[in-house]
Formats: sequence, structure tokens, C-alpha cells
Amino acid sequence: MATVISTINLKGGVGKTTTTVAVAEFLAGEYNKNVLVIDIDPQTNATAMMIGEKKWQELNANGHTLAQLFRDALDPDNRSFDLDKTIQRSASSVVAAASRLSLMPSSLDLIALQDKIASMPAGQFYALTPTDILRRALRGVIDEYDFVFIDCPPSLGIITLNALRMSNYYIIPTIPDILSTYGIPQIVSRVKKFSEEIGEPIEPLGIVVTLFRTQSTVHTNQLRRLRSNKDAPLFDTVIPLNNQIADAAEYKTVSTLRQKWGYAGQFEKYRALADEIIRRVAV
Ligand SMILES: Nc1ncnc2c1ncn2[C@@H]1O[C@H](COP(=O)(O)OP(=O)(O)OP(=O)(O)O)[C@@H](O)[C@H]1O
Ligand SMILES: [Mg+2]
Repeated sequence: MATVISTINLKGGVGKTTTTVAVAEFLAGEYNKNVLVIDIDPQTNATAMMIGEKKWQELNANGHTLAQLFRDALDPDNRSFDLDKTIQRSASSVVAAASRLSLMPSSLDLIALQDKIASMPAGQFYALTPTDILRRALRGVIDEYDFVFIDCPPSLGIITLNALRMSNYYIIPTIPDILSTYGIPQIVSRVKKFSEEIGEPIEPLGIVVTLFRTQSTVHTNQLRRLRSNKDAPLFDTVIPLNNQIADAAEYKTVSTLRQKWGYAGQFEKYRALADEIIRRVAV
């Protein structure tokens, strides 16, 4: 059975995408797990990181992105979404991780579609619920994977609810500052409510501190505060602010995870985070 994990935070730019891609690559490359990343964010950042802009343009022109799935949902006569052609295998710029990593690419076209989906009357077509489009489309293939990560946009709108609908867990990446951590209690209570509505557990797997600056008093104080917070458990691993991690956003073929993420402790950090995730889902 696949473990499905959404990466969410109401705040933008807190490292959701970077954490998702890194952890997926480490689980595939270091732990031999079969991993699928679903990029459900219309910003298409995970897609660009994993397959590059050029490949994305080609897929988008042919309707082989998640946007097609949602387009079909709005028009019951349209059945153009092709799951097999949309899932990209060997979706990593890191040779050592690619063979076990797949990607379901996103599209900028989702921006225009999301409001229409949100206002779609529930049950109009074959009891198709607007929050259940993604789960239904993927249920036949999901168990080919050990882990499925869903990179969400910085909101709890209809798109993110589609991700949560099929998730067992969620991870909250956050910069340890006042404004980035502000929304965490709201996220936890909103997801709890949604989980009760659908009658399926969606547990907070943990908060992961990202872009951490050791010299910052605010960061050190917020990290301490997060350690004792009651909303969600904190991961022990803290991801530092680091130039090479920022550079990893550029799609560029390399052989190893160390080459991509860095030789100055970054590799060890992400491996430790992947290890914590494996241990937490196992209990
Ligand atoms: N540990 C890090 N050190 C330095 N830069 C980082 C680190 N993690 C992420 N970044 C950079 O910070 C920016 C924001 O990261 P990212 O895109 O992962 O955040 P996000 O939460 O997914 O953003 P959005 O809400 O827009 O989806 C990116 O430019 C990314 O390359
Ligand atoms: Mg992102």
C-alpha cells in the first residue's frame, strides 16, 4: 500500500516544493522506494525542477498534465486525460534517483480551472465530488508506489483539498519566523475538520523547519517554540538556508544526490529527513 503525503502551508515560499522534491529523490535514490510526486500547484515548480521547462512545455501542449484531468471533470463528454501518458517516469535530474521516481506534472492552466471546479455542483456527473477528482483518477495506479508526495499550492482551496482527499498524512514545511508559522494552527484544525467530513484519517506527519538561519534570534526562538507546540510534531531534522539548496531548483543532469544537494551537510540533512519520514509512517 502506498503512503500518500501532501506538503502544505498557507504561506508561500517556505520550502514546500524544495522539501517535496528533495525527500522524493532521497527516498528513491537512497532508500530504493518507488516514489510518485504529484505536482498539483499551478505554479508548476516541482514539475520544472524534476523534468525541466522544455519537457513541460511539450507535455502541456499535448494535454498531458493534471490540468487535463480537471478540464475533463468540468465537461463530462470530454475524456482526453491519459493517465499513462501523463505520468512521467525517470523524472529526476539525478541519475541515481531517476529510475524509481515518477512525476504527475502540473500546468499553469490550472489557475483558470480551479474556480470553475470549486463551483462545480457536487454529484452532477457520476457522483463526481469536486474534492475527489484526483483520488478517483489515480486509484488504479497508486499502489505501484511506496510513497506518493503531493506538492500543494500555498492555500487550502479546492486544489489542495483534492490532494488531502487522497492523503494519509501531511507535512508542513515552515521558515521559523513569526509570519510563516502563524497559520499552522489553522491548517491543522482545517485539515482535521475535512478529515472528519470525509471520514478518513489525515494525520499531521510533522512540521519541518526550512531555510533556517543559525545566527537569527527570531529563528532560534521560533524553533524552540515549535519544539513545544501542540498542533503537530516537529521533525528533528532542520534544513538550513543554503545556496546550493536554492541552486537545486535549476534542472541540470547530475549523477548523484550529493552533487545536486551539496557536500557541506545538505545531503546528510535531507537523508535524515527522509529517514524520519520512513520511521514515522512505520509506526
Ligand atoms: N534550504 C534552502 N536554502 C536556500 N534557499 C532555499 C531553501 N529551500 C528553498 N529555497 C529557495 O527558496 C524559494 C522558495 O522555496 P520553494 O519554492 O521550495 O517554496 P514553496 O513553499 O514551495 O513556495 P510556493 O508557496 O511558492 O509554492 C525557492 O527559490 C527555493 O529555491
Ligand atoms: Mg511550491
